[in-house]
Amino acid sequence: MTAQAGAPTAARADLCRITVRGRDGSEEVFDIRRNDLLLKAAIEQGIDYPHNCRVGVCGTCKTRLVSGRVSPMVDLALSPLKNEEIEAGYVLACQAKVRGDLVVEAKLGHHALLPVKTVSARVSRWHKLPGDVIDLRLKCDEPVHFHAGQYCTIAESGSFTRRSYSYYDVPPIDEDAPATEVGFLVKRLPGGRFSEWLFEQDRTGTKFWIEGPYGIMGVDDVDVDGLCVAGGTGLAPILSIVGERLRKSSKARFTIVFGVRTRADIFANERLNQLLAEAGDRVRLITILSHEPQGSDWKGPRGLVTAALTPDLGVDYTSVAGFLCGNLAMVEAVEGRLIELGVDPDRIHADKFVPSGTP
Ligand SMILES: Cc1cc2nc3c(=O)[nH]c(=O)nc-3n(C[C@H](O)[C@H](O)[C@H](O)COP(=O)(O)OP(=O)(O)OC[C@H]3O[C@@H](n4cnc5c(N)ncnc54)[C@H](O)[C@@H]3O)c2cc1C
Ligand code: FES
Repeated sequence: MTAQAGAPTAARADLCRITVRGRDGSEEVFDIRRNDLLLKAAIEQGIDYPHNCRVGVCGTCKTRLVSGRVSPMVDLALSPLKNEEIEAGYVLACQAKVRGDLVVEAKLGHHALLPVKTVSARVSRWHKLPGDVIDLRLKCDEPVHFHAGQYCTIAESGSFTRRSYSYYDVPPIDEDAPATEVGFLVKRLPGGRFSEWLFEQDRTGTKFWIEGPYGIMGVDDVDVDGLCVAGGTGLAPILSIVGERLRKSSKARFTIVFGVRTRADIFANERLNQLLAEAGDRVRLITILSHEPQGSDWKGPRGLVTAALTPDLGVDYTSVAGFLCGNLAMVEAVEGRLIELGVDPDRIHADKFVPSGTP
């Protein structure tokens, strides 16, 4: 199956010329090999192309094909693109094999993207937390650079099972002294290939590969207040984002809404308490439980994270920046709720944890 728009101009033998028009009038032009994936090639060129999952599920990389031809690797009818978008010529850049010269339109960003690299590492900490979560730290053989809210793919050395996890550390302020150890919060998924393997036994000392960084968690003026909504291990990028913004701004305040199932599932107390201690009264934490048994002595809010997002939350929805991280359904529900409450959609930054394995 191919998607086509307009007539392609003649391409060199094995190279295709890509012209990306940003919605703000900016333009990027580069050459890639025929059959390469559009998003992968753009990221390799250091272009700030919108993306998140890179597996055709989140829809962040949607791109309008102005002219040229691509072969979608996923059936567009099963993709997150709406019918109107497909009819208007939209494709997913992460799943688009380039067949010839292209002109495309995408919402380019202007962040200083860090180059993607692959680094070897060993597990330096494997620690079980409540709620079927592992605090996994990797000591890297070379320094790694990332921005708050980004993620990388990791794999045990020699294994083909690669999965994406968000860094929870705050990137070092001094870019000349990059991190050599990075941490992730990994939730066990029943039947999940990587997470079940990780849970089987203490993996301290196991050799890994890390490839990244990927993802863009949006930027906004650092003095803007943040409303951060985390479902489960979606807390990882939130810890990184809030920690970094507290350092960069002396006035921004943050409300973190953290959703887990029951009180026994509240994990990362150590890291949350450290953040709260550093932040003084600038961070407010609201933990909300979706499956806490009725009749328990939990005095806090109950329900899904969206239940905490009420007009009287004490947040100025018209000026706040939203940072949403967790599974796809949760993030989409929160996105809709925040827009209803008056948050500017351009100020909503979402990190959707979509399954990357095979169902
Ligand atoms: C950008 C990003 C950041 C992430 N960050 C984190 C993080 O910080 N912490 C964290 O815990 N997780 C995170 N994830 C999710 C993580 O990458 C893994 O997908 C997750 O840990 C499951 O991996 P697994 O190998 O254990 O399960 P898998 O073997 O991948 O399967 C998990 C479950 O999903 C089902 N499944 C798998 N693929 C599909 C599919 N395509 N469609 C429908 N069902 C499917 C399987 O049947 C199984 O029940 C992130 C994902 C993305 C995309
Ligand atoms: S659908 Fe392409 S990055 Fe998620």
